Amino acid sequence: MSTPLNLSRVFNLLVVVLFFQSVHSQLQVGFYTTSCTLAETIVKDEVQKAFFRDPGVTAGLVRMHFHDCFVRGCDASVLIDSTSSNTAEKDSPANNPSLRGFEVIDKAKARLEAACRGVVSCADIVAFAARDSIVLTRGLGYDVPAGRRDGRISKASDIPGNLPFPTFNVDNLTQFFANKGFTQEEMVTLCGAHTIGRSHCTSFSNRLYNFNATTNQDPSLDPAYAAQLKQQCPQGNTNVNLVVPMDPASPTVTDASYYAGILKNRGLFTSDQTLLTNSATANQVKQNARIPLLWKKKFSAAMVKMGQLEVLAGNAGEIRANCRAINS
Ligand code: HEM
Ligand SMILES: *[C@@H]1O[C@H](CO)[C@@H](O)[C@H](O)[C@H]1NC(C)=O
Ligand SMILES: *[C@@H]1O[C@H](CO)[C@@H](O)[C@H](O)[C@H]1NC(C)=O
Repeated sequence: MSTPLNLSRVFNLLVVVLFFQSVHSQLQVGFYTTSCTLAETIVKDEVQKAFFRDPGVTAGLVRMHFHDCFVRGCDASVLIDSTSSNTAEKDSPANNPSLRGFEVIDKAKARLEAACRGVVSCADIVAFAARDSIVLTRGLGYDVPAGRRDGRISKASDIPGNLPFPTFNVDNLTQFFANKGFTQEEMVTLCGAHTIGRSHCTSFSNRLYNFNATTNQDPSLDPAYAAQLKQQCPQGNTNVNLVVPMDPASPTVTDASYYAGILKNRGLFTSDQTLLTNSATANQVKQNARIPLLWKKKFSAAMVKMGQLEVLAGNAGEIRANCRAINS
């Protein structure tokens, strides 16, 4: 056997392996191991500091990753500030004033630029921060495949059709998540993110007052809970900053009590309570409530999948110097 033949065989094998790797996933766990060793540590440190100041910010960071990935893929387009000639995603009513945690990303980015200039993308920072938030709130940790690059476009007009409404019914939700490549079960799993965080009254007050022509209050909402929500969200109160916890039992814990709440007719949005109206999704709600560890595992896996939506990799996009603005 001659050496050249062996070498070419090895080379062929390498090409095949690389090809399958790139088809499987454009992203890699440990992407910054050599290029910026402390990347994930620095992000975790900033998320942790923010959590100790305000534990609720972790919910904001989980939602930020969702809103980033569903609109133009996970490319940090959600972080870009509007300019005089462009209204960016973050100023769409779906994000402003409710989305929070931007300052945590800014702080992590500033430290990362100081440590390894131009290496770590804002999109990866958001993905790491969402995972760290889940861990800090006692969900299950997971490895984050990384290597996302940052997009150069962010338009509020991209949001309609790419983010769901809290008024969605189970068919709307199933269709909407299917459009993004998720099964109905993954949809039910991801909705469990509402086990942490808060909502503005404006996102569900339609269920409390003037629900429809014949009923003032949504009959699928537990009347005692509705009475409590009405106190927290008085009709006609013009304060747009009024908020309530979405899972009052444990608003800063990634546990399965979101599903237990739905079983008690205490899902906050129509899009939460509607999961009981279909037999398949109702069974998943019951199973998740009964076996929290199973839900946590499914949730972490679904977050990894969500984090790979339409990513920019290789030479596409850029590594933004400031997460709020595209490079000039
Ligand atoms: C199923 C369809 C979904 C709908 C209709 C929906 C809608 C909403 C709405 C209206 C809010 C309240 C915003 C506010 O008024 O302050 C909210 C909060 C939140 N959502 Fe969703 N969401 C959905 C799915 C998801 C998914 C898939 C995730 C993440 C994986 C997620 C994570 C969160 C978190 C963590 C909060 C709390 C944010 C905070 O406390 O700042 N949601 N969602
Ligand atoms: C939601 O589904 C209903 C039918 O169940 C449909 O009439 C409605 O147009 C859908 N709404 C949205 C926003 O997709
Ligand atoms: C109002 O909502 C109730 C409960 O969902 C429903 O039974 C009723 O048909 C609705 N009425 C109208 C006019 O939509």
